[in-house]
Amino acid sequence: MKKKVFAAILSALMAVSLAACGGGSAGSSAAAPAESTKTESTAASTAPAAEGTKKIGISMPTQSLERWNRDGKYLEEQFKAAGFETILTYSDNKSDRQVNDIQNMIAEKVDLLIVAAIDGAALNTAMNEAAEQNIPVISYDRLILNDAVSYYVSFDNYTVGKLQGEFVEKTLDLANAGDKVYNIEFTAGDPADNNAGYFFNGAFDTLSPYIEKGTLKVVSGQTDFASVATDQWSTDTALERAQNILGSYYADGTQLDVWLCSNDSTALGVAQAITSDYAGSNSVLITGQDGDEANLKNIVDGIQTMTVYKNVANEAIVTLGLAEAMLNGDTIDASLCDTFGIECAFDTESYETSAGNKCPSFLLVPSVITKDNLQELVDTGLYTMGADGYLAAAN
Ligand code: BGC
Repeated sequence: MKKKVFAAILSALMAVSLAACGGGSAGSSAAAPAESTKTESTAASTAPAAEGTKKIGISMPTQSLERWNRDGKYLEEQFKAAGFETILTYSDNKSDRQVNDIQNMIAEKVDLLIVAAIDGAALNTAMNEAAEQNIPVISYDRLILNDAVSYYVSFDNYTVGKLQGEFVEKTLDLANAGDKVYNIEFTAGDPADNNAGYFFNGAFDTLSPYIEKGTLKVVSGQTDFASVATDQWSTDTALERAQNILGSYYADGTQLDVWLCSNDSTALGVAQAITSDYAGSNSVLITGQDGDEANLKNIVDGIQTMTVYKNVANEAIVTLGLAEAMLNGDTIDASLCDTFGIECAFDTESYETSAGNKCPSFLLVPSVITKDNLQELVDTGLYTMGADGYLAAAN
């Protein structure tokens, strides 16, 4: 239930609403030339498009967080292979710039927009303009809180956090801990990212019974989302907060057992802080999400314990299938999932673009990766295992 409450609160903050989520229709066919671009926030450059070729605007948040480079690449590859023209922009984690980038795509007369929002509540201007031009919008991975969004493609975000919480529960056998007390700290994501609350709630809801029982103790006392959140998912910000906590609460030799981090970029900062500033000698259980290269190395080295993996190549395939169905005017319902060959759920309840406005969503399934099943990543074909035993993302 908490996830709905969180979405409702954020939705209430949203100002403008347009046509109901789920309503988007295809815009006019593109005639203007454009070529995809991979630089941070650049306008489209020129290359002649075949007559009638549909144009897709792909707006990604930043190249500074590893996964979005993969998302941009896979989306571009998928859509190009299916005969679309693409414009790809990265907006350097700056919301104003993303609005601008989307406005440029609208000016380029894209037929459909795919947007991973930097700030889910700050894209109203661009979304309203897209709606005015009848350009349908797929909210990609992160929900945009505007009813111009037709569909949402993501992973089950609450489950991501739940998997992290359950991993801690299982690894420490919390249910049978008796009088034993484990010390834990939390680091969550960017409050501007609608996903961040879902991740945190999924983990916290799983572990809070043990906090209430006293089996888990949050020594810093920082348990609310606002206190543990990390602006822009920044590694440096996570590092700094972790150093402060270690200095204030653990310098006296208090043992730290777990640091629950919502994703890999924050886990990287926390791991650095533990390596440099933690007085204890035990290994601390650290969670993450994404399968970033540096974190996979930390997993091999025993510095990070797990990551929740989300196959973003599959997310791109689902997005392409949905976009094609939208542009063809096909019926869009749960049966579309069967056409992807990828496990996903059609969910019309969990997400709202504004209070009461449900956003039909295609949600893929995340999985847990530890040192013991790294081969599963290699088996996706998206990573290779080096002779040194470390994984690298395949090009
Ligand atoms: C994504 C995560 C990612 C985070 C920071 C979230 O919206 O779902 O996979 O770790 O953004 O990039």
